[in-house]
Amino acid sequence: TRPDPCTVVLFGATGDLAQRKLFPALFELARANLLPDHFSVVAFSRSTLDNDAFRQHVKEGLKKFARTQPLDEATWQKFAPRLEGVSGAYDDPAAFARLREKLEQVSQQQGTQGNQLYYLATPASTFPQILHGLAEAGLLKREERPHQTPWHRLIIEKPFGRDLETARELNRELAAVLDEKQIFRIDHYLGKETVQNILVFRFANAIFEPLWNRNHIDHVEITAAEQIGVEGRGGFYDETGVIRDMVQNHLLQVLALCAMEPPVSFGAEDIRDEKNKVFRALRPVEGKEVSRSVVAGQYEGYLGEKGVKPDSRTPTYVAMKLSVDSWRWEGVPFYLRAGKGLKKRLTEVSIHFRSVPIGLFSGEGATCQRLQPNVLTLRIQPQEGIALSFESKVPGEDVNIAGVTMDFNYAESFNKPVPEAYERLLLDCMRGNATLFARQDSVEQAWAYVTPILQALESGEGGTLHPYATGSIGPQAASALLARDGRRWTLL
Ligand code: BG6
Repeated sequence: TRPDPCTVVLFGATGDLAQRKLFPALFELARANLLPDHFSVVAFSRSTLDNDAFRQHVKEGLKKFARTQPLDEATWQKFAPRLEGVSGAYDDPAAFARLREKLEQVSQQQGTQGNQLYYLATPASTFPQILHGLAEAGLLKREERPHQTPWHRLIIEKPFGRDLETARELNRELAAVLDEKQIFRIDHYLGKETVQNILVFRFANAIFEPLWNRNHIDHVEITAAEQIGVEGRGGFYDETGVIRDMVQNHLLQVLALCAMEPPVSFGAEDIRDEKNKVFRALRPVEGKEVSRSVVAGQYEGYLGEKGVKPDSRTPTYVAMKLSVDSWRWEGVPFYLRAGKGLKKRLTEVSIHFRSVPIGLFSGEGATCQRLQPNVLTLRIQPQEGIALSFESKVPGEDVNIAGVTMDFNYAESFNKPVPEAYERLLLDCMRGNATLFARQDSVEQAWAYVTPILQALESGEGGTLHPYATGSIGPQAASALLARDGRRWTLL
């Protein structure tokens, strides 16, 4: 369905996220003719820019970051007049009064009917001020009944707090002004096509789900390896670290999609209820136990990055073993690893099936060999696709066995580019569909799981910080974590 007429009110419009992701996503939606006919963007920023300067700034960004290059001039000519700016400080009521006037004017001129989507692409420390400013100016109205119009929705970007307590505090602040249905917490991993496909793969096919449990699966591995370092975000990253940056949100969301039970329906609440049950079933790890199931590392050279404290102990890598205490997953470890400064960029989930009960192929005429268990790999990025490895007889008179793969590749099967996560998520929010956004309870559950781990690591009780060479596969101790269980990480 086409979204309702609306105005996107963007805070942090001159920042990095807006330039790299948000304007390119809106522009691509405009190009694909998916935006409402009555649509506008009002940018609120602390830097003073008149409309022309602001539009020029957006255009420069699009020239670099728009998905379709070179920039489609015809779309730009239609898109540019829909962009307007308001400048002012986040704690200045007069600035919010100006914003209100601008929104009234835009609503009349562009016919956006007072529907407003507020996007806070700003540091989390600014959220309370902005929420307060909007609420005081009467710009953020709580939804009292379903499908109330005009609608006001809010998108916020992570970090949603820095531990359980601050996450609860933020949720309280949000709940004071808005109904949960109006709050859209972005986790851009959920907008990735390959991540959305996890549920389709599991529940639109009859052959995998019967095997998707402890009877057939030995263990699950989730990897999010990045080659890049902190890339100019040293100040932010040093306060954050890999667990807050990647595990609490992206990786636990992916884990939940892999581990959840079939939902009652494909509706937002049913899916989010099932995911939340997974978070609730995560077995807590705390204190000294952390050193047995978590390995934290830091790439060499991190301390020299701009904005990083010279004696920083912030981890840029983590490998961890998680247990989901549920009927389906009892005894099946989930191994997660994420890091920066690694050998290559690779995000994938691999489902390792159990071995065959008996090795039949070691008699006369056969080469005695160890059979490799089947592995199903969901390649989130790059080379998006799904592969299933299995054993096959090598042609010839003897029984020699080799591993082969069945491979599905998005690029080959669907002859079109995979959309960017932000395009899908912005569109879903305009349509009022919250399925791909994180709900308050699971955000808190995920924090409840990682907070004791963070505390143990930060106090030193959770083990040492392992250095690793930039461009390597991560610290040696991460391999030892799996070796103790008689397993090995998939090669990077
Ligand atoms: C972001 C993190 O949420 O995700 C970044 O803050 C990280 O540090 C990025 O690089 C990874 O996203 P993607 O889409 O490149 O896997």
